Amino acid sequence: MIYPRRFGRHLPRSLLSVAAGIAWGAAGEAHAAPQPEPLWAYGVSTPPKPGDKAVPQTPPSRKLRANEDPAEQTKLRHVAGSTAAYSRVDVRDGSNVIDWFPGDHPPMTNLMRHGPASLGAPSRGCASCHLQNGKGRPENAPVSGLPVAYFIRQMEDFQHDLRASADPRKPNTPTMTALAKAMSAEEIRESAEYFGAIKWTPWIRVVETDLVPKTKIEGNLHLAIEEARTEPIAGRIIETPEDQEQAEGLRNPHSGFIAYVPVGSVKKGKNLVTTGGMTVVDGEIQPGKTLACATCHGPDLMGLADVPGIAGRSPSYLVRQMYDLQQGTRKGPSAPLMQPVVAQLNGDDLVAIAAYVSSLAPTP
Ligand code: HEC
Ligand code: HEC
Repeated sequence: MIYPRRFGRHLPRSLLSVAAGIAWGAAGEAHAAPQPEPLWAYGVSTPPKPGDKAVPQTPPSRKLRANEDPAEQTKLRHVAGSTAAYSRVDVRDGSNVIDWFPGDHPPMTNLMRHGPASLGAPSRGCASCHLQNGKGRPENAPVSGLPVAYFIRQMEDFQHDLRASADPRKPNTPTMTALAKAMSAEEIRESAEYFGAIKWTPWIRVVETDLVPKTKIEGNLHLAIEEARTEPIAGRIIETPEDQEQAEGLRNPHSGFIAYVPVGSVKKGKNLVTTGGMTVVDGEIQPGKTLACATCHGPDLMGLADVPGIAGRSPSYLVRQMYDLQQGTRKGPSAPLMQPVVAQLNGDDLVAIAAYVSSLAPTP
């Protein structure tokens, strides 16, 4: 389907009123009742306590740590398909980000490698968290292939404290906010155009299962500590690197993630995503608890006008954003469009929606 050009960069008002009419009408109010935090999505194992607060992180440095073997840390390493060679110290240096695959993306700018100019050194390059190709990781955000107007709006939302994590302990969100606040309007546009020029391609493999590998949590990321799947999935999504050494040890931006999702969640999510959860009772159509996502996110959920693509992106990220929007910690000027979508969704709905949306193959 070709989207009519006349809508330009903004959604037509009619969509807004349809969204508002259905969901506010059905829910009776715009805000959802508080509901338990999906801890797995935030990469934590216990609920936050009153007063919990994270502060921006210092960039990972080249300094050798007490328990590290210098020869091991400085030995040059390679990844398949790249002619580059970097040591583990190079790999972790957040202020001077490496580049395994320069052909994947526009030339890396100072901002991508070193971070906002106003911070000087040691700052932190965008690519150190979001990767050079913008694929991102479950604990941060997939940023490539986003509409430039959407990207800029998010950066402004971070700058104006309109976008925080519902889990106050998540340290990389205040880090992101501090970086956004340090950026000039030119740097914001440059980064939006850099990542916007890179197409979103497959990165997440969704697997339905009753059992998952046992994991430990490091840096808000689930890491498998065994190969066998022995732990009940218990209604969660567990997203973990396909290959830990490649993703963690070498930060190989070609090594993606596997998302274990509950059995049946993809099908349940498909109904919510494509119909809003509509049912037919005694021959009568009953409206669902949410709205069909394609109306705003585009027919393939790859994004439309200034609405971001969501297909094939990290389910942990998608659930965090939907929960943040529901709890009101993400409250930028366009957040009201998502409020009727999330107002009535419970934790199982969020899991099902994310399982389905992440399982979709990105389209060109
Ligand atoms: C410390 C890791 C880190 C670094 C470095 C970082 N970010 Fe982020 N970024 C995040 C996290 C975490 C989020 C998700 C925040 C949230 O909503 O909780 C995010 C979200 C974003 C988003 C929103 C994506 C969306 O789909 O809405 C954009 C855009 C973004 N970052 C751009 C940048 C740019 C540009 C830079 C470089 C100046 C940068 N980031 C550097 C961690 C980082
Ligand atoms: C009425 C229009 C509308 C509908 C319907 C809609 N969305 Fe959205 N969605 C938006 C807009 C606009 C944004 C961007 C908000 C902003 O800029 O802060 C958004 C943002 C999001 C985000 C955050 C993306 C990111 O990169 O951070 C997710 C996740 C999301 N929507 C999921 C869904 C799902 C799933 C559905 C269907 C169940 C849906 N949306 C239906 C308009 C809509």
